[in-house]
Amino acid sequence: MARTDPLIIFTPSGKRGRFPVGTPILTAARQLGVDLDSVCGGRGICSKCQVAPSYGDFPKHGVTVTRTALSDWNAVEARYDRVRGLARGRRLGCQATIRGDAVIDVPPESQVHRQVVRKAALDRPMTMAPATRLVLAEVAVPDMHSPSGDLERLCAALRTQWGIDHARADPAVLCKLQPALRKGGWQVSVALHTPAGAEVPQILDVWPGLHQGGLYGLAVDLGSTTIAAHLCDLASGEVRASSGLMNPQIRFGEDLMSRVSYAMMTPGGAAEMTAAVREALNTLVAGIADAAGISPALIFELTIVCNPVMHHLLLGIDPVELGQAPFALAVSGAITLPAQTLDLTAGSPQAQTYILPCIAGHVGADAAAVALSERPDQSEDLVMIVDVGTNAEILLGNTQGVLACSSPTGPAFEGAQISAGQRAAPGAIERVKIDPETLEPRFRVVGCALWSDEPGFAAATAATGVTGICGSGIIEALAEMRMAGVLDASGLIGGPEATGTRRCEPEGRTFAYVLHDGSAGGGPRISVTQGDVRAIQLAKSALYAGARLLMDQLGVDKVDRIVLAGAFGAHISPKHAMVLGMIPDAPLDKVTSAGNAAGHGARIALCNRTARAEIEGIVSRIHKVETAVAPGFQAHFINASAIPHATDPFPELARVVPLPQVAHGAGGAGAGKGGRRRRR
Ligand code: FES
Repeated sequence: MARTDPLIIFTPSGKRGRFPVGTPILTAARQLGVDLDSVCGGRGICSKCQVAPSYGDFPKHGVTVTRTALSDWNAVEARYDRVRGLARGRRLGCQATIRGDAVIDVPPESQVHRQVVRKAALDRPMTMAPATRLVLAEVAVPDMHSPSGDLERLCAALRTQWGIDHARADPAVLCKLQPALRKGGWQVSVALHTPAGAEVPQILDVWPGLHQGGLYGLAVDLGSTTIAAHLCDLASGEVRASSGLMNPQIRFGEDLMSRVSYAMMTPGGAAEMTAAVREALNTLVAGIADAAGISPALIFELTIVCNPVMHHLLLGIDPVELGQAPFALAVSGAITLPAQTLDLTAGSPQAQTYILPCIAGHVGADAAAVALSERPDQSEDLVMIVDVGTNAEILLGNTQGVLACSSPTGPAFEGAQISAGQRAAPGAIERVKIDPETLEPRFRVVGCALWSDEPGFAAATAATGVTGICGSGIIEALAEMRMAGVLDASGLIGGPEATGTRRCEPEGRTFAYVLHDGSAGGGPRISVTQGDVRAIQLAKSALYAGARLLMDQLGVDKVDRIVLAGAFGAHISPKHAMVLGMIPDAPLDKVTSAGNAAGHGARIALCNRTARAEIEGIVSRIHKVETAVAPGFQAHFINASAIPHATDPFPELARVVPLPQVAHGAGGAGAGKGGRRRRR
């Protein structure tokens, strides 16, 4: 390159260099390491290399770009524009050549490693670097005087045209290669899979000519109750469809430990559960492909996150060791294997599966996925991440290090073990407010934006009715009862005398608070009973004790911020969670929701192969704390039973929510109306 050669500046990277007149922009981009996509290798048929040249004065770059800086449209661009349309101002980087100084913008959709912005405001972007990509290869025609197999000539083409060495292919792909080459006039599109750290890329599929149907992958969050998945375009990262179904293993036991028991007690029980979950995944693959309008055969990858019991059952490993100390995992590292090995046959026959590493016997690949999504190891401030489900998984840390534990909260937070509990389906009470003076409740149900005391509520909920109370609803109900003085710090519900409301009615030897009475219209009567309060107390004590145990390990009594993860975390109100003492005291504006962080972690691992190596590194450095045998757990558990807590002060909470000092137990129950109004 001579000093007088034209200067080319690429934006947004700012990479620049001088190139001889006549150099294609794609070539210049490659030589400078600019992230410009290409599937067809510069043949002018894939349109992935689109760029947007800019003209005029660029004092910042020290150049002036004239209208003659690039070659005129050539026949290939004109044809492409005629057939498929080229947006105004765009050129094909492989066709346009350099004539003078130029400033060339590479739009996001033309970048291989583009950043995909998540939809929610709190979401962070994700960088594309998928393990499976599409390339077009021009293969030499066979020559009987220089005999060489079709695969060998394809591999030679991949080497010279793409710098890809030693690609291999299974016999099933070889069967397709011969007809594809001939039909495509010796041009074939190749789906190439190269997992992180792998030397040898694998050819997963071939198509004649340019394959325009896309390559897809599935990010799966395999939970004990539900299985959720996102179908992603492996080139753009776009989520093309999302779907979920109930985990059919529920019929073998609601929670994880009952499934472990089933495996222990029933000959062939583990295999039965393995078959059930694999069948469900196949159903999910077929259903989600149908929803997106694509062939399931175009699904080439699955990344799966799950808790350790689900992990073992999916792999066909008996989970019995996970039911008892020392909770030994059969395998804790990340696993890459053909989907067919797991009987996952609904996608491409060559589809590959990546299962994230488990952190410990109680802290699974789902927690690893949360760590990949939220990156506590990159946080300057001390962050606690709580993924609330049947088991709560807690991460605590910052750039200095990350700790992890799991707490056996049980399914109460999901509405199970609650007298009127139900899943978050239309008709379930999900939000509750109680007037502190009248002690009258108002509520909202899933599927209706109106509050129960607003005009139109009855009509808007006529179809679903008010059917029960879901996890977020029971938490708000209890916290509101505590804030209104219906519930005391020990967790006792006051009677009508003590509280002054007839909504507190006797139930056996205790009291229940009536949230909604639909009996006149044939609907249910929905109350919060003393048993419900006890179930939530047990769950929240386990959660808080786990959190405190991690804080003890670090020698801190407060954290800088708290992130609530999980589908439940997306719906839980930080204020109500803190009133109940589910989470440690923190400024309320420092308690945020990360939505389905485990699912997002699965999506990152799907779309970025280097992220797989990263999470494997992070997991190896996470320090695991086993709550089941930790000496301090029991004491923390007992103190955490009070609402919000027996001994820990909650100064940040007190600043925004003054809690009434009431006592409904012996000496408190008879305090009468005057007694209930004592406030701090
Ligand atoms: Fe495919 Fe330019 S690289 S059209």
